[in-house]
Amino acid sequence: MIDERAVMKRAVSKKTLSNKTLLASSSLKRTWLLVSLVSFFCVTTTSFAGDIEAGKSKSVTCSSCHGGNGISSMDMWPNLAGQKAAYLVKQMRAFRDGTRSDPVMEGMAKPLSDADIDDISAYFASLSGK
Ligand code: HEC
Repeated sequence: MIDERAVMKRAVSKKTLSNKTLLASSSLKRTWLLVSLVSFFCVTTTSFAGDIEAGKSKSVTCSSCHGGNGISSMDMWPNLAGQKAAYLVKQMRAFRDGTRSDPVMEGMAKPLSDADIDDISAYFASLSGK
């Protein structure tokens, strides 16, 4: 017969041991998380290098509402000229992914690739807004 109490005791002491190692590894994990978060932001902030010229030709459909010069002719359509590129990229991705919802803009953003969004955002950001 197996001595159940002895088995339990061993299991418990094993557990305390593994809790200690877990604790050590969780602070290691936290450091890792911090490192990867920081590098993630470095990567994403540098990856908005869109092509302005390509963005100009890709934004022909956008200009019917947002204006050829990025200034819209309707109160309910926002101006995009001179807006920060990183902000435009974030909004376009949000429309595409459904985290920002607008029936019109969702349809506009759905077919765009990340590169399209980068280019179009670089184009509108490059306009003076005057
Ligand atoms: C039929 C009109 C229409 C067209 C075409 C259109 N948009 Fe929009 N866009 C809107 C409206 C309306 C909003 C405001 C949505 C809201 O209220 O959330 C908007 C919002 C935006 C925003 C968010 C601006 C901000 O300040 O947060 C961006 C960026 C944008 N549009 C980019 C584009 C791009 C790029 C295209 C072309 C691929 C495009 N739009 C085509 C009507 C349009």
